[in-house]
Amino acid sequence: MTGHSDAPPRPLTARRAAALAGRCRVPGDKSISHRALIFGLLAVGETNVTGLLEGEDVLRTADAARALGAQVERLGDGVWRVHGVGVGGLREPTGPLDFGNAGTGSRLMMGVIGGHPIKATIDGDASLRKRPMRRILDPLAKMGVQVLAEAEGGRCPITIRGSDDPNPITYTTPVASAQIKSAILFAALNAPGVTTVIENEASRDHTEKMLAYFGADITVVPEGTHGRRISLRGRPELKPMPIVVPADPSSAAFPLVAALLVPGSDVTIEGVMLNPLRTGLLTTLLEMGAKIDITHRRIEGGEEVGDLRVKASSLKGVDVPAARAPSMIDEYPILAVAAAFAQGETRMRGLSELRVKESDRLQAVADGLAANGVTYRIEGDDLIVTGGAVKGGGTVKTHLDHRIAMSFLVMGLASDNPVSVDDETMIATSFPQFRPLMAALGADFA
Ligand code: S3P
Repeated sequence: MTGHSDAPPRPLTARRAAALAGRCRVPGDKSISHRALIFGLLAVGETNVTGLLEGEDVLRTADAARALGAQVERLGDGVWRVHGVGVGGLREPTGPLDFGNAGTGSRLMMGVIGGHPIKATIDGDASLRKRPMRRILDPLAKMGVQVLAEAEGGRCPITIRGSDDPNPITYTTPVASAQIKSAILFAALNAPGVTTVIENEASRDHTEKMLAYFGADITVVPEGTHGRRISLRGRPELKPMPIVVPADPSSAAFPLVAALLVPGSDVTIEGVMLNPLRTGLLTTLLEMGAKIDITHRRIEGGEEVGDLRVKASSLKGVDVPAARAPSMIDEYPILAVAAAFAQGETRMRGLSELRVKESDRLQAVADGLAANGVTYRIEGDDLIVTGGAVKGGGTVKTHLDHRIAMSFLVMGLASDNPVSVDDETMIATSFPQFRPLMAALGADFA
């Protein structure tokens, strides 16, 4: 299966492209797609979803929802129907749940399972097996979830037994993480009373918005300068609601930066989600001098979206504050590529969380820059890139990380020499249409 670590690696090379042009629409948001299936599972009756991202990560969540008792059907392109069992109604799965490469699917489902009196084993590929899960298991343990087995250091495969009467807790997340917050909120759905999650830096709020939309009693108030306090009353009956998944800003980032870097380009990316907790990359690129016009702002699926018209731009280096990291956490690899072509230095501050993504992204980005002749340094948790003309010519190790693969393929569209990645298969986890979409704009990879 593509996008799976047991598939043979497929190298791919990007060469300097002529001006990119045209319109495109990137697939549905990965965060919302995972949640759409989970909400479908937890609502009683039929939830209809349109625009679902049909990437490997999300398909694993669909499989897990089935194993936990939902009927999940694909009716057409991005059109799915979930017949859910309701909060409290989950079935114990008969085998391990394999989440592949997906941190989001595995962590959110741990929360869902944690609020039910069932036992389940959560596992995934070699990348997922390296990722820290204690951050999820610790708050869940406070709620009464038992960890029956785990690999060293709180890693997958992990077997948990959820609770039929989880304790409502008040919990301050140690890092800004929507995955930690969401796992607790999903477990809290079955708790008798109010659970409160406090975050000192707000992370993406899709779970909270969808909980409110499905009829849960949830309040969100500011906490300090950048934080939020989220309180959820347990044991609601979630009502199925239609879900329209807007286009993923984290996927839009690749054609967007490609259009900025390839001289003469003029590309429009349609209907990109503009949730303010996801737009840190746009803010940063605009500060760098990017020519991006946002037009046709409208609401789709409860989120603001807009069309992004992007023209090739000469960028200048900027200082990206650490406080912006949660709103662009998945975009640093492609920002580092943009920075490599910008005049002067770009300092990206506070990147410690990058070390625990699909790969150690700080190291993978640094190695990719070095392989292509880009000057950089790491100071503590900051990455500083010195931009200019990019020599290219390197082969980048992707370490089972889709975003490393796509970022460096974009680099090769504008560098003096071609850039290769050692494996493109993982791109299917989040953006299966990446190659044909980029080819339609004029960027062919071979
Ligand atoms: C996600 C949250 C982020 C992000 C991931 C998707 C989510 O992870 O990196 O790609 O959908 O909740 P953290 O919450 O661990 O920062």
